[in-house]
Amino acid sequence: MKKTLICATALAFLTCVAFTGSAFATEKGPADITLESTIDKAKKAKPAIFPHAKHQETLKCTDCHHGAADGKKVDYTDGMKIEKCESCHNKAAGMPKKLETFKAVAHANCKGCHSATAKADPSKAALKKCATCHPKKK
Ligand code: HEC
Ligand code: HEC
Ligand code: HEC
Ligand code: HEC
Repeated sequence: MKKTLICATALAFLTCVAFTGSAFATEKGPADITLESTIDKAKKAKPAIFPHAKHQETLKCTDCHHGAADGKKVDYTDGMKIEKCESCHNKAAGMPKKLETFKAVAHANCKGCHSATAKADPSKAALKKCATCHPKKK
């Protein structure tokens, strides 16, 4: 009887560790992402490289992620379901024109910060260049 109980406890503990382990890894998303429009895409694809983990070191999730309710933006809170930008920002979703494609919001968010950073610190001027995010194909 006692042995069974210890076993059950040990098993629950292991399952628990395994669960939190994987939940932690997926919550933060992939370390590096190649971003590519799949809806409303340009004639010529222009994938962007994105070191996600590197940005997470210095920025808050809310600097990029948010949700929506009644067509309005809802600020990111811990544990909120994170969806692809395109799932809300696409031409069929009825967003304001300057926010209706992945390209538009990516440029507002990514390029917006890169340009502001470059302006504040001229040694970081390269950040706003197209090739920083859209590396030339080899
Ligand atoms: C500099 C902007 C930025 C920051 C900061 C950031 N993310 Fe992301 N994250 C993104 C982008 C862009 C994607 C890709 C979304 C897409 O494919 O549409 C992404 C994808 C994800 C995904 C995968 C979503 C999916 O379904 O593919 C998760 C999970 C995630 N982020 C969690 C986080 C968490 C947690 C934090 C804070 C610790 C964070 N992110 C910080 C921009 C950011
Ligand atoms: C669940 C739906 C949803 C998702 C997912 C989503 N957005 Fe948004 N986003 C909105 C809504 C709603 C607004 C507000 C639109 C308005 O002002 O009319 C908004 C506004 C914005 C704006 C305008 C500036 C601001 O902060 O208000 C930017 C830039 C933006 N989103 C970028 C992104 C990026 C980048 C991603 C992916 C990392 C993303 N959004 C994912 C719904 C979403
Ligand atoms: C709020 C500010 C901010 C946002 C938003 C942001 N970045 Fe950055 N990003 C930076 C800064 C600052 C650096 C330089 C980090 C360093 O050098 O340590 C950087 C570095 C990078 C680099 C690496 C450049 C190198 O020299 O290795 C790439 C690629 C990049 N960002 C792409 C993106 C993309 C794509 C997005 C949008 C999905 C994005 N960034 C959103 C601030 C931002
Ligand atoms: C800070 C990062 C960043 C910079 C700098 C940047 N972009 Fe982008 N761009 C993105 C992201 C992220 C997307 C959305 C994902 C994708 O590539 O389709 C995008 C999308 C695009 C698209 C649409 C691609 C498609 O397949 O639909 C074009 C075209 C584009 N960018 C051109 C440019 C040009 C030209 C410049 C320089 C003047 C530039 N970008 C600078 C991050 C950036």
